[in-house]
Amino acid sequence: MDSRLRGNDSGVVVVRNDNHGNMKILILGAKGSLGRQLMKVFAEGNEVLGWDRGEIDITDRELILRKVEEVKPELVINAAAYNAVDKCEDNDEEYELAKKLNIDGPKFLAEICLKIGATLIHYSTNYVFNGEKDSGYVETDEPKPINRYGKSKFHGEKRILELSGQGLKWYLVRTSKLFGPRGQSEMAKANFFDIMLEQGKNKASVEVVDDEASCFTYTPDLAKATRELVDGGYGYGIYHLTNSGACTWYEAAVELFKLAKIETEVKPIAGDKLVRPAKRPKYAVLLNTKLPPLRNYQEALKEYLYSKEPK
Ligand SMILES: NC(=O)c1ccc[n+]([C@@H]2O[C@H](COP(=O)([O-])OP(=O)(O)OC[C@H]3O[C@@H](n4cnc5c(N)ncnc54)[C@H](OP(=O)(O)O)[C@@H]3O)[C@@H](O)[C@H]2O)c1
Repeated sequence: MDSRLRGNDSGVVVVRNDNHGNMKILILGAKGSLGRQLMKVFAEGNEVLGWDRGEIDITDRELILRKVEEVKPELVINAAAYNAVDKCEDNDEEYELAKKLNIDGPKFLAEICLKIGATLIHYSTNYVFNGEKDSGYVETDEPKPINRYGKSKFHGEKRILELSGQGLKWYLVRTSKLFGPRGQSEMAKANFFDIMLEQGKNKASVEVVDDEASCFTYTPDLAKATRELVDGGYGYGIYHLTNSGACTWYEAAVELFKLAKIETEVKPIAGDKLVRPAKRPKYAVLLNTKLPPLRNYQEALKEYLYSKEPK
């Protein structure tokens, strides 16, 4: 395909396919772990513009309304967010930041998308649920977050749903436990598997939580599934997208060390043995009842471990 990825002086990355150019797409959080994959996956056949913190502050309403209207995308994908679950739990300043990014940001984007007739795709989390339903959560289940991060994401969801009745075209994608090539900013966090690999290289044994279950999600797979959502003409609404195979952190670490041939012993522990300010849901498994299932996380993990792209 004739897709080209070009940087320019302002750091904005423009991806254009000269042969097709089906849709003009704006991706926010384009340098984040999911944003980078979205940039790649949506490039083919579309004109894609990627903005990150250097190009826009999604918490600045006036800026969002003005800049997005100037560009007039047909599709806006928001992968920018505040994700520091523990940091915002016991620090009020951080919580204010989380609310700005996770509630105000999507609200402003929904406003401008409604005004210019663009479709909005926004991501949320399994942490909007309390984890007490032991059969997993379908898209219509009612959120009841138990920590501040989950609350901020839930209120962000509500800001989008509120404009649905006024004609906003929207997809809300809940996902969990992302892993994949790291985001490009200096503040980008290492994912669980990277942390475990590092520990596995340096320690004879590691202790890993075994009483919290959910699903891992490989960012390239999530980006592809997001494209399928758009190209497949699926109806607007809430979607649960993760790799298949619910597991605990402990079970995933065992799988990782087996695949990576690391001999470090993995010891299961209870979550309350770790000092973490934010409460975690025990069984926050998202059930996808609307799209074809994504492959299992073990397959995706194998690809991640052996891919040539830097972690
Ligand atoms: N990570 C997970 O395990 C997980 C689990 C469930 C759901 N999700 C959701 O999935 C989505 C993608 O998450 P991710 O892990 O890919 O996020 P990420 O790697 O943290 O990327 C977010 C990007 O947004 C940028 N950003 C931060 N503040 C901004 C602002 N005010 N204006 C514009 N851009 C800003 C960040 O820049 P800086 O790095 O410079 O701050 C970063 O490049 C989010 O909605 C998240 O809540 C993630």
